Amino acid sequence: MAVNRVQAGRTAQPIVLYGLRGVGKTVLLSQFAKSALGAEWLTAQVEAGSGKSLRESLGEAFHGPLSDLARPSAGRRLLKALKTASSFKASYDSTGTWNFGLDLTQSAGGGADSGVLETDLTKLLRDLSAAAEEERVGVAILIDEAQDLTRDELTAVCSIAHFSGQQGWRLLFALAGLPSLPRVLAEAKSYSERLFVFERIEHLPDDLARQALTVPAVAEGAEWTPEAVTLVVGETRGYPYFLQQFGQETWNYAPGPDLTETDAQVGAARGRAALDNGFFRARWDRATKAEQQYLRAMAADGDAGSSSGEVASRLGRKVTSLGPARASLIAKGLIYAPEHGVVAFTVPGMADFIQRQPQA
Ligand SMILES: Nc1ncnc2c1ncn2[C@@H]1O[C@H](COP(=O)(O)OP(=O)(O)OP(=O)(O)O)[C@@H](O)[C@H]1O
Ligand SMILES: [Mg+2]
Repeated sequence: MAVNRVQAGRTAQPIVLYGLRGVGKTVLLSQFAKSALGAEWLTAQVEAGSGKSLRESLGEAFHGPLSDLARPSAGRRLLKALKTASSFKASYDSTGTWNFGLDLTQSAGGGADSGVLETDLTKLLRDLSAAAEEERVGVAILIDEAQDLTRDELTAVCSIAHFSGQQGWRLLFALAGLPSLPRVLAEAKSYSERLFVFERIEHLPDDLARQALTVPAVAEGAEWTPEAVTLVVGETRGYPYFLQQFGQETWNYAPGPDLTETDAQVGAARGRAALDNGFFRARWDRATKAEQQYLRAMAADGDAGSSSGEVASRLGRKVTSLGPARASLIAKGLIYAPEHGVVAFTVPGMADFIQRQPQA
């Protein structure tokens, strides 16, 4: 995979994983982090939109791995990277720089504190990549919820990934986010369509969905009957988060030793109830009354997505007057814009849930 390619001195294209909520993007990104860490790479896994800027999240995420490498016998390039990282820290935190327990006054580096994100991040990653090469490792940057990066942050990520590829830096980006992520990247830099490898993460194909239920059970000395597996996989349509929930409910209910179709029926019913009372309910309650009306107007189209114009006409309103509700629902993570003029739910099954809710 990508980590091996870079380790072998070849370049690897940056990766974008995108899909609805609960399909397993974070799990995959963490797997990625695990293999990078397993190869002792300088690895930063961060989440956008968590209240911190990308600058600060990345700066803080690299502190630990750099501290682990810092030692008096460090090579010239590593010392330089440490000094640059320290200046990067100073760019968002006026109270603190790092010295990593070393005297860095004589080493090259620093200057990653101009305040211009792209400039500073380029310097940091250039020096980190050089240090990684000296240490015979690589640098991995994993950004979850990347659709929530600011425009500046997106542009910086695209430019640096592009530049890094041309320069052969030992640097690998992997981004994960909602299905709007490819569009958001294309708006930031039009060449992003060619820059990244895009992987759409969807419901699991039938065989993998079945395995997701049966393999963990076998490890516990239990077995699913084929009918029970078919029932749960059908009910969940292979969505990882739903499989997890329904599988768990079936497991908890089953008197044992095996998991039968009856157990699966109870598990599925309890799973549906749990989703309604938790997963879907929490989202629904996050919307104001006006926003709920907007969601209701969307629900008629199912999970496929709705035209904003059509939603407006169903509500007897102008598209522009619904702009604030739409923007707020996007900010709350309940809907996203797969393309211009279209809105869709971020979780599968939301439309069905809304249609089951009594009108207020
Ligand atoms: N390949 C898989 N097989 C079985 N279950 C999985 C798989 N991948 C993920 N899951 C389960 O699905 C759930 C959702 O996974 P994850 O949090 O990675 O989704 P996500 O796409 O990051 O969602 P979100 O957009 O909400 O962050 C987790 O509870 C996880 O245990
Ligand atoms: Mg996630």
